[in-house]
Amino acid sequence: MIVLATNNKHKVAEISDCLQGVSCQAIDPDWRIEESGDTLISNALAKAVSGRNFCAGRQAVLAEDTGLFVPALGGRPGVYSARFAGPGVSFDQNIAKLLKEMAGKPNGERRAIFRTVAVLAAPEGNFWISCGELAGEILLNPRGQEGFGYDPIFYLPSLDKTLSELSLKEKNTLSHRAKALRALSPYIEELARLTLR
Ligand code: IMP
Repeated sequence: MIVLATNNKHKVAEISDCLQGVSCQAIDPDWRIEESGDTLISNALAKAVSGRNFCAGRQAVLAEDTGLFVPALGGRPGVYSARFAGPGVSFDQNIAKLLKEMAGKPNGERRAIFRTVAVLAAPEGNFWISCGELAGEILLNPRGQEGFGYDPIFYLPSLDKTLSELSLKEKNTLSHRAKALRALSPYIEELARLTLR
């Protein structure tokens, strides 16, 4: 069994769908972690270690950290994507701040990249780490109802859709998170078998 070290119900839904056939469950809602690192990898590792300690080292733990990197903004919001508009803000407030900062930027400067670092922590101490990316553009206005976070303004030119206009299953065929998880899937499946509970 794999424990998912996240309090984000949208991530739990996406990860569970990606890991079809693998027994996994969200960590206890009492688990909390401060995302104090300045890189995705330091935050993802901190979540994996904290999650493993929380489970008293008895279960394999999967953690990830994701950021939206916009070259025209010097890479912001990047690792600070969750609190771009301030601590404890809503997804809509973060989107509003990003659209404000992108106001007036021409099409050629609206490129953006979602990047996920995933960390699998085995009970006995080993780690496996992977990264997944998705390139797109920041739209002028939100579109779509699915997904979470910045999905409504993340536009995929090849599909003429935002991530919010894709179903969860469609998002999982191409997303940054799904790519990072696919790279770890042989190890996730092996650990899930070894830690059956
Ligand atoms: P976290 O620090 O990895 O939990 O995520 C940082 C923030 O990035 C989240 O609060 C969301 O706003 C955003 N985010 C993470 N993953 C996604 C995604 O798949 N789509 C859209 N936004 C995301």
